[in-house]
Amino acid sequence: MNRLSVLFGCGVLIASLCGAQSASAFEDSIAQRVLACTGCHGKEGRAASDGYYPRIAGKPAGYLYNQLVNFRDGRRHYLLMTQLIDPLSNAYLQEIAGYFADLDLPYPSPQPATVTPAVLARGEALALRGDSTRGIPACAQCHGPALTGVVPAIPGLLGLPRDYLVAQLGAWKTGSRRAASPDCMADIARALAPDDVSAVAQWLGAQAIPTQAKAIAQLPAAMPKPCGGIATEAQR
Ligand code: HEC
Ligand code: HEC
Repeated sequence: MNRLSVLFGCGVLIASLCGAQSASAFEDSIAQRVLACTGCHGKEGRAASDGYYPRIAGKPAGYLYNQLVNFRDGRRHYLLMTQLIDPLSNAYLQEIAGYFADLDLPYPSPQPATVTPAVLARGEALALRGDSTRGIPACAQCHGPALTGVVPAIPGLLGLPRDYLVAQLGAWKTGSRRAASPDCMADIARALAPDDVSAVAQWLGAQAIPTQAKAIAQLPAAMPKPCGGIATEAQR
């Protein structure tokens, strides 16, 4: 079985890749089919240790689904992955997103910060209080008071390697990562100075994962600005 045939199962699409023998011997469960993904994203989507391939296990299903659609529709770019999901239907992408969202796996240990306490304090302030002088809302106003995300479509910000955080915020600044319009994260990333990106990533990466690490059901107050893909595209 090559990666593609695992992903699609032995259905009509790629029947030619699946001999009669392997079709009968093959357990066609979603866990088997997403083996094509875990080659990069780590066993069960827990993320590989190098920090380059993001963890997908346990992220809210609507968020994961929106990202798969973003890659498929060209708002995010990673050719090797896009090729795999290009031909898949929305229904199948929903199913894959739901599968990874339901996995409940331990998080990696926090990364000890490598910056001064003053820089860390700036990072904490941005995450929890924002910077009203620069029009930057607190990350916690949308990502949840404990920064563990909000179902169905806002991801948590803890347990992510700081290199990944810096890369994603940088991609939003340059426009190589986009979300459905209005792209609130693009505005926020552009309002952050380069030093702010590093400070907030250092602080977030150094936080311990709370015992209750799951995305919460509802924010305590309305979001400070609208974000595309929230509540419209994203449902479980
Ligand atoms: C060839 C390696 C590779 C394969 C195979 C792959 N991915 Fe990815 N995936 C990546 C990389 C690299 C990124 C991060 C790209 C970026 O920086 O935006 C990513 C990002 C993602 C994201 C966004 C994560 C986030 O937190 O925003 C999701 C969801 C995802 N992949 C799901 C999948 C699924 C489902 C499959 C199987 C159908 C899959 N990937 C197969 C490499 C891969
Ligand atoms: C107005 C609401 C809002 C605020 C405020 C906000 N975010 Fe977000 N953030 C979102 C939404 C919505 C997404 C999902 C975007 C998507 O679907 O790609 C997101 C996604 C992200 C991601 C991608 C996570 C991943 O797994 O790839 C990062 C990183 C991020 N936000 C960092 C921050 C930081 C840092 C702050 C504070 C400086 C912040 N956000 C403030 C709404 C917000």
